Amino acid sequence: MSLPQHLAIIMDGNGRWAQQRQLPRIAGHQQGVKVVRTVVQECARRGIAYLTLYAFSSENWQRPMTEVDALMGLLDYYLDVELPLLQQQGIRLQVIGDLDRLPSSLAQRVRQQVASTATNPGMVLTLALSYGARDELVRAVRRLLTDARRKDISAEALDETLLASYLDTAAMPDPDLLIRTSGEMRISNFLLWQLAYTELYFCSCYWPDFDVAALDRALADFSRRSRRFGQAGDFEPTSRLGES
Ligand code: IPE
Ligand code: IPE
Ligand code: MG
Repeated sequence: MSLPQHLAIIMDGNGRWAQQRQLPRIAGHQQGVKVVRTVVQECARRGIAYLTLYAFSSENWQRPMTEVDALMGLLDYYLDVELPLLQQQGIRLQVIGDLDRLPSSLAQRVRQQVASTATNPGMVLTLALSYGARDELVRAVRRLLTDARRKDISAEALDETLLASYLDTAAMPDPDLLIRTSGEMRISNFLLWQLAYTELYFCSCYWPDFDVAALDRALADFSRRSRRFGQAGDFEPTSRLGES
């Protein structure tokens, strides 16, 4: 079975999962964190090289302060509790997004945790925190313009490789498979540049209900996809040009 080298997930539906049970939204987020643990372990066990999780978007800052605070608290908790497990499994933690918008003590902790796993040889686990793809592009172009002025980079020198090297994801391959839970069929400002040729998989279950069986169904579906990247594909022609 062909496995995605890079799996990206939009973990959606925590609020609705809680609402269904007459629980506060944060209860859904708490349950969601447990699923993150399972999915991280299972992806590492299956040999997926890169796992990228959309944990908090640049637009999520507009949610009520109580929910934002609770999510920041959960992130803090996650880093605290999961780090030893990540270390044990040799998982390398990375983050993408605008960390400068996080509470400074949390941002500092995130940077420390990232540094402490930097030489781990296993799966690269990337958390998208305060991440928005448009924001990422703006930040990238801003840095590129500064460098262009300083290092005299000409407009003609700009190509896809150079631009991509300024994105938060510079060091990783594009996702092969994107999973979004909760039944919504949209990208919600996630990895717009990087998803150009990614296979998309939508499943209706809410993130807290996502489990190993659901992961396996998504991976099995991916292994049956035929990826062509805009090329002609390898179909056998039924008749050749010029033949009647
Ligand atoms: C995803 O679940 C988690 C975050 C965006 C942080 P939601 O909180 O979006 O849950 P729904 O989509 O409202 O059900
Ligand atoms: C996307 O989910 C962001 C994360 C999962 C972190 P949202 O719930 O924020 O997206 P919309 O509002 O459904 O587009
Ligand atoms: Mg949502």
